Parts: sequence; C-alpha cells; structure tokens
Amino acid sequence: MNEVYQKLLHCRDCVREKTDFVPKVAVVLGSGLGDYAENIRVECEVPYGEIEGFPVSTVPGHAGKFIFGYIDDVPVVCMKGRVHYYEGYPITDVVLPVRLMHLLGAEILFLTNAAGGVNTSFHAGDLMLIRDHIALFAPNPLIGPNIDELGTRFPDMSSVYDKELQDIIRKAAKENNIFLQEGVYAQLTGPSFESPADVRMMRVLGSDAVGMSTVVEAIAANHMGMRICGISCISNLAAGMTANPLTHAEVQEAADMAAPNFKKLVTESVKKMI
Ligand code: HPA
Repeated sequence: MNEVYQKLLHCRDCVREKTDFVPKVAVVLGSGLGDYAENIRVECEVPYGEIEGFPVSTVPGHAGKFIFGYIDDVPVVCMKGRVHYYEGYPITDVVLPVRLMHLLGAEILFLTNAAGGVNTSFHAGDLMLIRDHIALFAPNPLIGPNIDELGTRFPDMSSVYDKELQDIIRKAAKENNIFLQEGVYAQLTGPSFESPADVRMMRVLGSDAVGMSTVVEAIAANHMGMRICGISCISNLAAGMTANPLTHAEVQEAADMAAPNFKKLVTESVKKMI
C-alpha cells in the first residue's frame, strides 16, 4: 500500500482509539485564533504528540492538538496549531492533518491564517475572505503516487473555495458588522518574510495576501472532494509597504488584536454551514 496512505490510516486508528466523535466541519485555527477553544463545547482533546507518526509543530504559538466538540450544534474538529512546510517536514506530512480530519468525518474545511497584506487598500487587522489562491510557489502536496482512495490524479481546481460557504461568511460578517476584505491568497514557503521586490511581484501576479500555509491544505482537501472556505487575518502589510521591518512578534500581536472579530466570524459562519 502507498506509504503516505498507510501512515494516514495508522493516525486515524490512533485517534479512533481515543474518541469516536464524528465531526462535520474541520477548522484550522491560525495565529490569533489559538485560544478559540473557549468558543467550543469541548467533548475531547487529542494532543498531536499522542498520535503516532503525526507531525508536531515546533513554532512558538502553534502548540498542537485536535479539539473535538460543538460550535453551537455543529460537530467540529479544530486544529489548534498546524505544521508548516518550512519546519522541514515532507509536504505529505504537512497535509496529513487535513486528510485525517476528512477520514474522521469532516466534509467541510474552514481554513484560517495570519497573512501579510499585499493589496495596497488593506490595513493591518483586516479580515480577508479567501476567494482563490496562488499555489505555484509552494510544493504540490499531491506529488508522488496518487492515493486513489482519496481522489483522482488530476483534480480540478477551478473553484476550490466553495461559493455557498463564501456567501455564508459574507452574510455572517455583514450581520455582525465585521468589515471583510476579499481576495487571493498566495502561499510562499517561508520561513523568511518576502523582500519588497517579492511583494511587488506577488501584487503584479494578482495576489492580495501572502502567507506560509493554507494553500497546500486546500489542495489536499479539494483532492478529497471537501467543501472549503478560508479567512486570512491581515496581521501586517507585507515587506516594503511600510517603513518598519517585520517580526513574528508583530504578526502575533496584530493577529491577537483582530482575534475577537475573527472568532466571532468563525463561530457565526460555522453555525450556518450545516
Ligand atoms: N508574509 C508571509 N507570511 C506572513 C506574513 C507576511 O508578511 N504575515 C503573516 N504571515
């Protein structure tokens, strides 16, 4: 059997030894949403370290576990902390958690992240609905033998971000007076931030925000036929757009400031998804 798939099934079996909870929506909590668990009626938590073979994040602020429970009446699994390609994991490990959440039952994937604003009309602290992505600067997570049990060799990517879910998020933002930008998210590998010339290039290519996650997860989820949506918290304007150098601390600080609206939007949107 395909090694990547074998590892995935083993991780699923490890989780199933701890809980038989079946989530409908999977939520990946990015920077700033780390303490989102307070909005969940928690049924069970599974630290990543207890899942044999599961990649465990090394980034401060990304300590990892799955949280199973309910947002309103919707059964969810939330990832508190994700792994990034720049940490040195094979790309198939980076998307293993998303694949695992689908095998556990999740049909919808709600992706969140902190991102640098590239669009000149954006401000630090804005939230952005992801309408599409640019994948070409990150390794494709489907490279290698296709896992036929999960999806087809050449999956269509013409509407990765589900239109209906986008509408639900727009509506939830409007009803709760949360200002929502919209745009295209591009994933770069990191871990260094972009140069000002990189940022100018990304703008010319049609990107509104840049980050170091999310797109590979969306590709793996789309391959499996999941319905996907995503929101970026614009934690800073990208390099060269302000006089200040970028720091991880600044990114976290701005994400924390936007967190109340970010959390509200996730909760109010998820409620309407099932
Ligand atoms: N660039 C890339 N990733 C990021 C940024 C950025 O400016 N801010 C938060 N994540």
